[in-house]
Amino acid sequence: MKHLVVGASGQIGGAVYKSLLEKNQDVMGTWFSQPARGMRKLDVNDRSRLFKLVKEASPDVIYACAGMTNVDRCESEPKESFRINVVGLANLVEAANRADAKIVLLSSDYIFDGAKGPYDVTDLPNPLNVYGYHKVLCEQHVATVAKSFLIVRTTVVYGWEAVGKNFIARLLHKLSQGQKVKVPSDQIGSPTYNRNFSRALIELVSKDEQGVFHVSGSTQTDRYAFAVRAAQVFGLDSRLIHAVSTADLKQKARRPLKAGLKLDKTRDVLSTKLLGYEDGLRQMLNDEL
Ligand SMILES: NC(=O)c1ccc[n+]([C@@H]2O[C@H](COP(=O)([O-])OP(=O)(O)OC[C@H]3O[C@@H](n4cnc5c(N)ncnc54)[C@H](OP(=O)(O)O)[C@@H]3O)[C@@H](O)[C@H]2O)c1
Repeated sequence: MKHLVVGASGQIGGAVYKSLLEKNQDVMGTWFSQPARGMRKLDVNDRSRLFKLVKEASPDVIYACAGMTNVDRCESEPKESFRINVVGLANLVEAANRADAKIVLLSSDYIFDGAKGPYDVTDLPNPLNVYGYHKVLCEQHVATVAKSFLIVRTTVVYGWEAVGKNFIARLLHKLSQGQKVKVPSDQIGSPTYNRNFSRALIELVSKDEQGVFHVSGSTQTDRYAFAVRAAQVFGLDSRLIHAVSTADLKQKARRPLKAGLKLDKTRDVLSTKLLGYEDGLRQMLNDEL
């Protein structure tokens, strides 16, 4: 099988790319602004370059891991979010259809309103912010236009990554510098270790699954408790972490508070064990970048 990971310089794309290489798969990865060794430069909005690259790679599967992922930036720059996240994704779907390849869309529990999480694959979306709304548009586009697809929703993905901008990477960096950190105690979700996620995703692809799946950590927690546990696992000072409410943070985009994902459908088909956040953090401690 030939794999094309678009956005392989990012956290999730990077983990997927690495897991595919570990399995000796034929894989091409792309970057956009952060040059990555062995990968190709690609802008999902440069249609002619995209179609040329996909023709050259002739993949069986395209992982759409590219995107504008800062939720508050999407809120302040909705047109740019639409251009990159929605139009860019539509370009990838068109390229996948031309190549007779499966498209894998990375979606999020931010498509839900956070009133009654964790959410099942059958629950109806009701996004609170631009990022979540654009993910809903992407899901609808993929489900109606793609010849072959997987929509994989995940949440609060953490672990080692080249740039180190995920929640836990930033937290560990700040704590190791002795800096105080404010973390909301009212945002509940199911944190997802990136290497566990990528292995599960690759298994879904290898089994030629189609449709919507949830792939996340298997235990629920709030962000504050998660941060404190991370500090303990990594031997850092958890007293630097201060619990606040989401409202105190005055973030531009509204957050779904009671979020997270139910995994029943995914567990029925996967043999990869989805880790809870305690096991995920311990595995991260033992893993290298
Ligand atoms: N992280 C999470 O907790 C989470 C949860 C649910 C869903 N998701 C979704 O999963 C996907 C990957 O997320 P992530 O956390 O890995 O994001 P990330 O670390 O921010 O990576 C984003 C990737 O997109 C690339 N990119 C940005 N603009 C591009 C463009 N115009 N053309 C081509 N590539 C472009 C970036 O390249 P450069 O870095 O080289 O610029 C990078 O490789 C996103 O769709 C995100 O919405 C993430």
